[in-house]
Amino acid sequence: MRALVTGGCGFIGSNFVRHLLSRFRDVQVLNVDLLTYAGNLANLADVEKTYPDRYTFIKGDIAEKDAVFSWFDDFEIDWIIHFAAESHVDRSILGPDVFVRTNILGTFNLLEACRRFWTSNEESLLRRRFLHISTDEVYGSLPEYQYSTEISPYDPSSPYSASKAASDHMVKAYFRTFGLPALITHSSNNYGPYQFPEKLIPLMIHNALKGRVLPVYGDGRNVRDWIHVEDHCKALLAVLRKGRLGENYNIGGQSEKENIEVVYLICDYLDERLGFIAGRPRKNLIRFVTDRPGHDRRYALDTAKISEELRWHPVVAFEQGLRQTVDWYLDNQPWVEDILDGTYMEYYQKQYGERLNESQK
Ligand code: NAD
Ligand code: DAU
Repeated sequence: MRALVTGGCGFIGSNFVRHLLSRFRDVQVLNVDLLTYAGNLANLADVEKTYPDRYTFIKGDIAEKDAVFSWFDDFEIDWIIHFAAESHVDRSILGPDVFVRTNILGTFNLLEACRRFWTSNEESLLRRRFLHISTDEVYGSLPEYQYSTEISPYDPSSPYSASKAASDHMVKAYFRTFGLPALITHSSNNYGPYQFPEKLIPLMIHNALKGRVLPVYGDGRNVRDWIHVEDHCKALLAVLRKGRLGENYNIGGQSEKENIEVVYLICDYLDERLGFIAGRPRKNLIRFVTDRPGHDRRYALDTAKISEELRWHPVVAFEQGLRQTVDWYLDNQPWVEDILDGTYMEYYQKQYGERLNESQK
């Protein structure tokens, strides 16, 4: 099998590439990634060394149609696992353009390449798969006790989730119209090693470690369902190998938490491991700041379909996974320091500067 992984230098993509190569000896991986601020070659430095004959990296942009077609010309591709995206909601509010370009146009280019290179040969189509990695955010915000199933209507709130929804629709259309062997997954919030410290968990770990303010949006009571990235990767393999073509599968961690609860857990564990900071518990660093516009209150997934059809269940308990994740960040401080460059500080200032000034008033 030859697998094209897009966005393999990002958080979930790099965990998936490592998982795929270690699980299957007969798989070759071609990782195409533009290396945006979120993509980091260091995330797969070990993989390059361990699998020199089975792993290839190309720096490339999925929004460039000619480039995408050239990958299909040069490699016989059986599976596409499509992670590449702009993935951060706050950045989509600060600047939506690139989300339209990468998430919608980029996905469209990949679909067009599949149509051109795959659909002319029905026999070879049988072994091909296009796995599109989507999100639970396309279903929009839910009241308490409601869960999104795979047939729930789409109701995205942010430019990010709207761009993911648009790309999902295009994937589904290529399945129905051109017979593309496509599958779509909707995962909840991932956490684990190699996550860029703009997202809640690694941002809070980093700031709490340094004794910086912990900016919690609104009242901190928005709910997310957390899944360990390893559980997510296992689910993706199950869908790729055994999922029904044209279907969507929800992938959730069954760990709903209010944001404030997650931040408390991080503070308590760091205090336990390292002692208080400047003589005070880290919870004292929390500030409630101006909310994210259009902030979805709650996401929650009904995961009966994947568990009944594919026998997949999450196995990492949230508190244990969170502790392991904090440990990973503590053990990999050079990785963190290397990515927190001037561009990150510029983003941080734009996103939090005013919010933090306001919180001190
Ligand atoms: P990430 O931001 O960590 O990584 C995205 C990767 O895509 C980066 O390596 C980046 O360089 C690459 N990329 C961006 N634009 C590109 C382009 N034009 N061409 C090629 N590569 C490009 O994202 P992530 O958190 O690993 O998410 C991966 C996928 O999973 C995304 O599609 C996201 O929507 C989806 N998802 C994420 C979560 C989550 O909790 N992180 C949950 C559900 C779904
Ligand atoms: O639900 C799946 C989605 O999860 C993915 O599709 C996205 O790619 C991924 O970024 C994530 O989106 P969220 O917006 O839920 O994740 P984020 O880590 O940005 O925020 C989690 C919650 O924490 C959210 O309610 C906003 C809040 N938050 C976030 C940050 C960065 C804060 O309160 N303070 C912060 O500084």
